[in-house]
Amino acid sequence: MSQTLEDFFQKNPSQWRSSYPGLSLNTLLNEYEQFVGHFQNTDASNRYQEKNQTILHCFRQLLIDGVPLQYISNKAYFYNSEFYVDERVLIPRSETELLVERALKEISAIDKEEVSILEVGVGPGTIGLSLLQEIKNKKIDYTATDISRDALDVFLMNQFKLSFKIDRNHKVQTLQTDRLIGINDTYDVILSNPPYIKAQEDRSLVHHQVILHEPHVALFLKDDIYEAWFDEFFDQVHNQLNPNGFFLMEGHESHLASLMKKCEKIFNKKGQLIQDLTGRDRFLLIRK
Ligand SMILES: C[S@@+](CC[C@H](N)C(=O)[O-])C[C@H]1O[C@@H](n2cnc3c(N)ncnc32)[C@H](O)[C@@H]1O
Repeated sequence: MSQTLEDFFQKNPSQWRSSYPGLSLNTLLNEYEQFVGHFQNTDASNRYQEKNQTILHCFRQLLIDGVPLQYISNKAYFYNSEFYVDERVLIPRSETELLVERALKEISAIDKEEVSILEVGVGPGTIGLSLLQEIKNKKIDYTATDISRDALDVFLMNQFKLSFKIDRNHKVQTLQTDRLIGINDTYDVILSNPPYIKAQEDRSLVHHQVILHEPHVALFLKDDIYEAWFDEFFDQVHNQLNPNGFFLMEGHESHLASLMKKCEKIFNKKGQLIQDLTGRDRFLLIRK
């Protein structure tokens, strides 16, 4: 069986190999073993089960379709944990781990035993659930929001899956809403990795596999509403942040500097742009 997959891997044309840059045969064989193991349970396989095809054929078909391996195995690794993911949520990106690290550093410097955190656009919960696992010496009151009910459902699955790693003193709640609409509480910390790709202008830079398989609500904002969307968002963040609280957001390397200007105007304070490991502007940090 694996010989056949090996042949497929070596012989198949760029049509599907281009979807998995850098994929080694070993990784592919490991993924296949796992796929066989939980074939009955994966959402991605259901589409092909109806056709009563063999497991290997289904697996090949998913590869030909360019389905990301994380959606095939329903697993993605982020920070210190394995998260459940499927096509309802964005696959976590490694650069977002830097946001977690920075947030942990800033939170540890807050001179309070109880800290309230709001995360806007929580997706599978990679940022928030990673923070909650790491923070042991403070009690966290954490609120996760997302505009997508589907994303919140995946968040709840991960909260359950990782609950054994999270201090029981932390409080977690979820809310389905657009940015901070309907939120009246104020927070010490507001975090977000919002959709930040311009649907038209930036599209050519996005890998076709991402466009085909990841949820567009997690990735794109229409070009003509981009500026106004962030103006409103930053206004809401400013209103709901406690004095001395901080806002940390991931953004697009080409747009973050101009978004920072908007933010500084609203906050009437100087913020800080933080680079990712490739030296590109990736995060915006500002204090109220
Ligand atoms: C880039 S993903 C980030 C997911 C996760 N926090 C991470 O860092 O991997 C953006 C998330 O924001 C959500 N979202 C999109 N528009 C939103 C809005 N207007 N209000 C709240 N959440 C939104 C999407 O559903 C998606 O889960």
